[in-house]
Amino acid sequence: MRVRASSLYLLTTCLRLVAAQSSTSPNLTALYGPGLSSGAEIVYSMDPDYSADITPRWNLYDAPTYYGAIKPATEADVQHVVKVSVQSNISFLATGRGHGSTSTLAALHGIDIDLGNFRTIDLDAENNKLTVGGSVNFSQLFEPLNNAGKMLPFGNSRCVGLLGASMGGTVGYLQGVLGLGVDYLDSVRLVTATGDLVEASKTNNSELFWGIQGAGHNFGIVTSATFHLHDNVNGGMLTSMDLLYPGSANTTIYEALKSYDDDIPDELTLNVASAYNATSGQGVIVVNVVWFGPEDELTQHIQPFLAAGPESNDTKTVQWTDWWTVANFGGYNSPTASDCVDGQYFNSYALDIKNTDPAVLTAVFNDIVEFSQANPGFSGSFGIDRYPEAVTMSVPSGETAYAYRDTKSQVTFQSYYGSNSTLNNAADTLFKTARSAVQATSGFDQLAVYVNFAHGDEGPAIWYSPEKLDNLTRLKRKWDPTELFSFYQPVPLYYP
Ligand SMILES: Cc1cc2nc3c(=O)[nH]c(=O)nc-3n(C[C@H](O)[C@H](O)[C@H](O)COP(=O)(O)OP(=O)(O)OC[C@H]3O[C@@H](n4cnc5c(N)ncnc54)[C@H](O)[C@@H]3O)c2cc1C
Ligand SMILES: *[C@@H]1O[C@H](CO)[C@@H](O)[C@H](O)[C@H]1NC(C)=O
Ligand SMILES: *[C@@H]1O[C@H](CO)[C@@H](O)[C@H](O)[C@H]1NC(C)=O
Ligand SMILES: *[C@@H]1O[C@H](CO)[C@@H](O)[C@H](O)[C@H]1NC(C)=O
Ligand SMILES: *[C@@H]1O[C@H](CO)[C@@H](O)[C@H](O)[C@H]1NC(C)=O
Ligand SMILES: *[C@@H]1O[C@H](CO)[C@@H](O)[C@H](O)[C@H]1NC(C)=O
Ligand SMILES: *[C@@H]1O[C@H](CO)[C@@H](O)[C@H](O)[C@H]1NC(C)=O
Ligand SMILES: *[C@@H]1O[C@H](CO)[C@@H](O)[C@H](O)[C@H]1NC(C)=O
Ligand SMILES: *[C@@H]1O[C@H](CO)[C@@H](O)[C@H](O)[C@H]1NC(C)=O
Ligand SMILES: *[C@@H]1O[C@H](CO)[C@@H](O)[C@H](O)[C@H]1NC(C)=O
Repeated sequence: MRVRASSLYLLTTCLRLVAAQSSTSPNLTALYGPGLSSGAEIVYSMDPDYSADITPRWNLYDAPTYYGAIKPATEADVQHVVKVSVQSNISFLATGRGHGSTSTLAALHGIDIDLGNFRTIDLDAENNKLTVGGSVNFSQLFEPLNNAGKMLPFGNSRCVGLLGASMGGTVGYLQGVLGLGVDYLDSVRLVTATGDLVEASKTNNSELFWGIQGAGHNFGIVTSATFHLHDNVNGGMLTSMDLLYPGSANTTIYEALKSYDDDIPDELTLNVASAYNATSGQGVIVVNVVWFGPEDELTQHIQPFLAAGPESNDTKTVQWTDWWTVANFGGYNSPTASDCVDGQYFNSYALDIKNTDPAVLTAVFNDIVEFSQANPGFSGSFGIDRYPEAVTMSVPSGETAYAYRDTKSQVTFQSYYGSNSTLNNAADTLFKTARSAVQATSGFDQLAVYVNFAHGDEGPAIWYSPEKLDNLTRLKRKWDPTELFSFYQPVPLYYP
């Protein structure tokens, strides 16, 4: 076991110069050290090297606060850390790839269980199986899967943790052809609230496994997981087309999008985003189309968008793992601009819709452009991602905890918070209002939000849907009765 910066820790505690929280920091070395393997590390938050040693957080807005991090090297280390934390009444949170972002995390003051050492990949292409450690990211898997001619549903950002995403669902540009990531999960090895290590699958602890498939952040720490794979679709190639429109085309584009509400090929994904050109002071609409089929067949499927007369277009056919390198969104809102840059401040809202309402979307677009014009320091985005739902819906809802299989589009609002809280408060109101407006005609009776995109203010009935909470609360009472795993969109012990 290695300990970093214990001298700094000593200095600050003795001098009591730091905030009350730090001065009451438990001695992590004394508490956790005995019993950890030689490969484990304890790193204190005050360590100048802290951020170099520890998996960084993507978002610092509403972030948890930590005395420090423990970086286990073995499953037994994870069990030990959970047991000692329980005995010592210290809160903890597992970190996979650090992209989790929700206001419920702000309640946590404790220790970070950094799973950075759990990054193994064991691909058995012959048997169509992939076993990975609890903190692998998507991009780590690009090459091994590509080489084997296999696919797995990934999200749109290559830096995100496979487990963090898949335990919530994993939606994204592969969902139309492959369905949800959570449906490819076969089993997990999980350290539970008692510090025991259990397996969960469709045949072993099957009720727990049901809960892990959609509410997985609630029941334990996954040290490793096994997925089954899909053979390459379209030879693993996709065509990505960027289309750029002036803001004045917004309603026409929302109408084009609406024409796909009831009928869309599984092979087609439509990402519609608003952007703001600060130089011209005008709103802009950018569309990225993903197509898993012959390039020359794409245009016939996107006539409503072509008829709207894009100012420019850009088409590239690449391996599915390279989408992020070509989806440039006309130079705006590139998925690579900020999704892999750690330590930023983003304030986000989202909701699921199954009905596109051009009038409501136009009003929201106008409000955001107006807000951008009035507040030059503001930087934000408004996106609608249409992911074909047929494959997702081919799995019956009751099979997993994942709540909203009939969702057609993910609507997201994001503002870059920076350091100006005045602006953030105004943007917060703008986006909350927009979320309500879009919800009203969303096709869902109440607000429906993908748990991994949630802001954190919605509550369990919205993250998980009321109908799932009967099962989920029962599982919570059984597996986590003292609510240790309740900092990321917590399932309550009882509902209502
Ligand atoms: C830029 C960006 C793009 C995104 N794009 C998509 C997308 O296209 N599709 C999509 O579905 N999601 C997307 N997400 C959301 C993403 O699925 C969640 O943020 C996810 O929780 C991130 O997992 P992580 O391991 O990176 O983050 P972490 O912060 O490490 O984990 C999030 C939470 O998951 C839990 N957790 C993580 N690993 C484990 C584990 N091994 N065992 C137990 N609990 C664990 C913990 O409670 C933790 O607080 C995106 C997020 C960002 C920031
Ligand atoms: C913390 O515990 C370690 C190991 O028991 C000890 O060496 C160290 O002096 C302690 N630090 C403080 C500040 O008490
Ligand atoms: C455990 O810690 C919490 C605060 O984190 C505190 O409210 C609670 O009273 C503590 N419980 C015990 C038994 O010390
Ligand atoms: C993904 O994980 C690999 C292996 O640890 C790492 O080298 C890479 O930087 C990570 N990629 C991203 C984009 O986070
Ligand atoms: C079920 O899980 C337990 C551990 O929780 C393990 O010992 C056992 O081998 C598993 N059984 C099967 C059939 O996978
Ligand atoms: C959005 O489209 C409407 C036409 O339906 C237009 O009046 C409005 O100006 C457009 N908004 C922006 C910001 O360009
Ligand atoms: C923004 O507008 C300016 C001025 O009209 C133009 O020169 C520039 O190309 C636009 N930016 C982008 C990314 O389109
Ligand atoms: C793309 O733009 C070029 C001009 O740059 C134009 O010739 C072509 O027709 C456009 N294609 C589509 C599909 O709009
Ligand atoms: C509750 O869980 C069981 C499996 O444990 C499942 O069969 C049932 O469909 C679930 N209920 C709902 C509403 O999903
Ligand atoms: C913060 O934003 C507000 C609203 O746009 C603006 O009036 C104020 O000058 C900004 N403050 C700073 C320090 O930039």
